[in-house]
Amino acid sequence: MARVATLTIGDKKIELPVIVGSEGEAAIDIAKLRAETGHITYDPAYGNTGACQSAITFIDGDKGYLRYRGIPIEQLAEQSDFIETAWLLIFGHLPTRAERARFDARLAVDAHIHEAFKHHFEGFPSNAPPMAILSAMINTAACFATATYADPDTHDPEAFEEAAARLISKVRTIAAYTYRMTKGLPYIYPDPKLSYVANFLHMMFSMPYAPYEVHKEVEEALDLILTLHADHEQNCSTSTVRMVGSSKANLFASCAAGVCALWGPLHGGANVEVLEMLDTIHKGGVTAEDYLKQVKEKKVLLYGFGHRVYKNFDPRARILKESSDKVLAKLGVKDPLLDIARRLEELALKDSYFVDRKLYPNVDFYSGIIMKAIGIPVSMFTVMFAIGRMPGWIAQWKEQRDEPNGRIARPRQIYVGPTKTDYVPMERRG
Ligand code: CMC
Repeated sequence: MARVATLTIGDKKIELPVIVGSEGEAAIDIAKLRAETGHITYDPAYGNTGACQSAITFIDGDKGYLRYRGIPIEQLAEQSDFIETAWLLIFGHLPTRAERARFDARLAVDAHIHEAFKHHFEGFPSNAPPMAILSAMINTAACFATATYADPDTHDPEAFEEAAARLISKVRTIAAYTYRMTKGLPYIYPDPKLSYVANFLHMMFSMPYAPYEVHKEVEEALDLILTLHADHEQNCSTSTVRMVGSSKANLFASCAAGVCALWGPLHGGANVEVLEMLDTIHKGGVTAEDYLKQVKEKKVLLYGFGHRVYKNFDPRARILKESSDKVLAKLGVKDPLLDIARRLEELALKDSYFVDRKLYPNVDFYSGIIMKAIGIPVSMFTVMFAIGRMPGWIAQWKEQRDEPNGRIARPRQIYVGPTKTDYVPMERRG
């Protein structure tokens, strides 16, 4: 029998259907609430609101589960790679050998950017924030070959695969060129023989006269970071992509908006804040104990801690903590910031402020230490998050586009401003 929830408002009683997801999560469907009662729901920051039904990513925040298309993140981290995971998210299944080869070939061809497009970088000052450039350049990319930028009304699977590959591939080239521009270095063309991650490292760090040697450990560490960031259901940036896409904006425009949402320090920008926080502690401005005291006095945040959904542990942080040990050891890097991070975590996990609020390390707590060890500049950390999250945004945009009853997203509000007020001409305003 279908489950219902009964709501009583004054002397009116209505029944609302209950929707149950494949993992048993239940939601009250309030689609008819306003029509039948004149009321809306009030849920600032959407903590209790399901905005869609999605078959892409499942998170159980109490148990610390994260699964892409049903597959636990631990298995993907161990056995898959970023591009296979991207395909899984976007197309709903692990690629066959032929699909993988086709997608790799598309990524290789699409890595190149139009020569005229290259000149757009020169219009930015060298200290422009890389996330601003990235967002602008994703939209710029869409101006160069409009036919293949996934018009929401085009349901041709071939065209969509092409658009997805272009975006995933070009975002990496744009990111590398952004870095080169800010440093005044020559742009390095992509090398189609290299893997996705190796090609990125080559474009970031090669010189025309000195090719960068890609070490397996570095490539694997970065691939792992991208894989762990690939999707995270309806977070701030993904909801932004869906919100923008719901107006039938194209894939590139929607993902460019996602970049802007990700930029903020409470979201993807936290990976930069974590490094800066650890650095401040290291440079002797404060001790770990002093810093936590300031956190508890609500003067500062413990960046890289806390999550809206995870209330036990973030499985991505667990994987990255383990990986940070291994990567630093393999590369022979000794980073005092890793010891500081461990000390902060140890102290916080014993402290009632953090325990009572269920605050644990999130994905950003250890990712920066690994990125720093493999040579990614701090200014590029959030850009790396955006490259990693691109497949998730594309998958979510596609899922929404394919939704048969999809409508433009349009929340309501409770108005608390002045009631009807007459206009006062300037001469009577004093
Ligand atoms: N440091 C200190 N206190 C915190 C922190 C933190 N990092 N996170 C939450 N709190 C406190 C918060 O002040 C509140 O305390 P009180 O009950 O006394 O008012 C309580 O914990 C509940 O927090 P909240 O702000 O209601 O939690 P939220 O779900 O709205 O925010 C968050 C989630 C991730 C924005 C927040 O935990 C935060 O600001 N963390 C630091 C920034 C960060 O690391 N962001 C990366 C998130 S993971 C990567 C991603 O997907 O973006």
